[in-house]
Amino acid sequence: MSKTINNSRRQFIQHSLLGAVAATFPGLLLADMGQLKRTATPSFNPDVEIEFTARRAQIGIFSNGPVTQVQKFSASLSKGPANALTELPNNYLGPILNFQQGQKVRVFFNNKLNEPSIIHWHGLHVPQHSDGHPMYSINPGEQYVYEFEVLNRAGTSFYHSHSHNLTAEQVYRGLAGLIIVNDENEAKLDLPRGEYDLPLVIQDRSFDSQNQLQYIHAMPERIMGFLGSSILVNGKPDAEFSVKSRAYRFRAANGSNSRIYKLGWDDGTPLTAIGTDAGLLPTPETRPYIMLAPGERVDLWLDFSGRAVGSKLTLYSLPYSGVMPGMGGMGGGGMGMMRNRLPQGGKFPIATFKISEKVSDSPKLPEKLVPFQRLTERDVDNTNDPLPIAISMQHMKPLLNGHSFAMDRVLDFEKVALGSIKKIKIFHAQGQHGGMGMLGGIQHGDDDHSASNERGMRRMGGMGGMGGMGGMGMMMDMAHPIHLHGQQYQILSRKTANVNATNYATVKDGFIDSGWKDTVLVMPGETVEIAKPFQDYKGLFLYHCHNLEHEDLGMMRQFLIG
Ligand code: C2O
Ligand code: CU
Ligand code: CU
Repeated sequence: MSKTINNSRRQFIQHSLLGAVAATFPGLLLADMGQLKRTATPSFNPDVEIEFTARRAQIGIFSNGPVTQVQKFSASLSKGPANALTELPNNYLGPILNFQQGQKVRVFFNNKLNEPSIIHWHGLHVPQHSDGHPMYSINPGEQYVYEFEVLNRAGTSFYHSHSHNLTAEQVYRGLAGLIIVNDENEAKLDLPRGEYDLPLVIQDRSFDSQNQLQYIHAMPERIMGFLGSSILVNGKPDAEFSVKSRAYRFRAANGSNSRIYKLGWDDGTPLTAIGTDAGLLPTPETRPYIMLAPGERVDLWLDFSGRAVGSKLTLYSLPYSGVMPGMGGMGGGGMGMMRNRLPQGGKFPIATFKISEKVSDSPKLPEKLVPFQRLTERDVDNTNDPLPIAISMQHMKPLLNGHSFAMDRVLDFEKVALGSIKKIKIFHAQGQHGGMGMLGGIQHGDDDHSASNERGMRRMGGMGGMGGMGGMGMMMDMAHPIHLHGQQYQILSRKTANVNATNYATVKDGFIDSGWKDTVLVMPGETVEIAKPFQDYKGLFLYHCHNLEHEDLGMMRQFLIG
């Protein structure tokens, strides 16, 4: 297990106390920033109070052979409705959290691991001190207190550890779980509930002959991202669901480190989505297949009505191409990675659904779900001057906006006015053919790194044609799931002029861009523009690649909302 522990949080806090970062962070936030929240606020009266613990554990993942050493979140409810926690029995995944919009939640997090950790509530719109920013990582034996109100609409989110440089491995070893939010608008709809509303957390893992998790630590595998040899659903291999001949809601979440799924049925039946990342869609969307990148969620409406008892349906990840460097077609082995791993873009089964009982009544797919205001160019205050999120790489480090993550840094254009709605343009900084065309977008006036950064970017631009391992081509040839903390956003456009049309054709019908999102898959050559509200909370909110190996390698930055 990696023992690389990042000390920058401690240093950061010391700097803050000395006022040494005053030039970077405005005074209004300095007092609050970096202070670990150790005690409950007496005036905050929670509806739900949960005691969370992260610790090492042994779980029987396989029905045969030794138990597996994992890291696990466990939780107990000290206040609130009994259904606020749903345990997945005998599982490395933490319990499912069931919240109601408007609830006030307090969480005491106890770190009983032997390394730092902190929990992030991915998808929830919460204040900085409760967002699990890695500066709040706590050491073994310490406790952190979260307090927030559930502002989110009904939808599916998930929580995971977020301690910088340790995130990928801790999530891999088990530190994650699902979050469900319900609200009144959703309650008015006739959606599948109870035993017909089920989680579908998809992850890939590799095990040795003793059932122990294998992870990667060396380059170049880290830069490619971890790809495992078996698929687990809700923490178990060979998932089979026994279902009745009616409609179900399956809350699919991609909890994998770097694997991208193309969800589809083996018999070509289309798939229907009723929700994306953290909210219901305005209307259901039916697609031949649905792409699901790390960090993304999709609420599926799976209707088994009319299927014969005893029949089986298999949900696959279908073949696609073009998200990994140096792999023309499917497969993308080629680089001598961990043996037996399933190739990114290969075809493999995810879960089987066996019709075990005939029933005659089933909810019908609603024509309309929950309407919301569609954000357009008119709603943002910077139509012609989008904030950039530029994807690039230098010296085998994946970067955003030309920089690696630094706990105590924000660039000028990363300072955003509270209450604004911004257009953000996510793009590959080196054009597909080695040009520098897009770089103009990030010359907003940088911090004191700007001169060297600019030189760096030019140098990289000049190398653009090299491609291959270590060359610029590699990052451009990878797809990156870009995640923003805080409020959900909407997708304004995808610009595909520079994509490889043959590859892109294998994924393009699987993007559901009509809902609220917090993670978007940006394909090689693609430019995605989003409208992102920065409302309610001041402070530091991360944006990063949710390929967790990339995130830990520094492909993360932050906005300072103030
Ligand atoms: Cu799920 Cu900052 O991430
Ligand atoms: Cu997040
Ligand atoms: Cu990435």
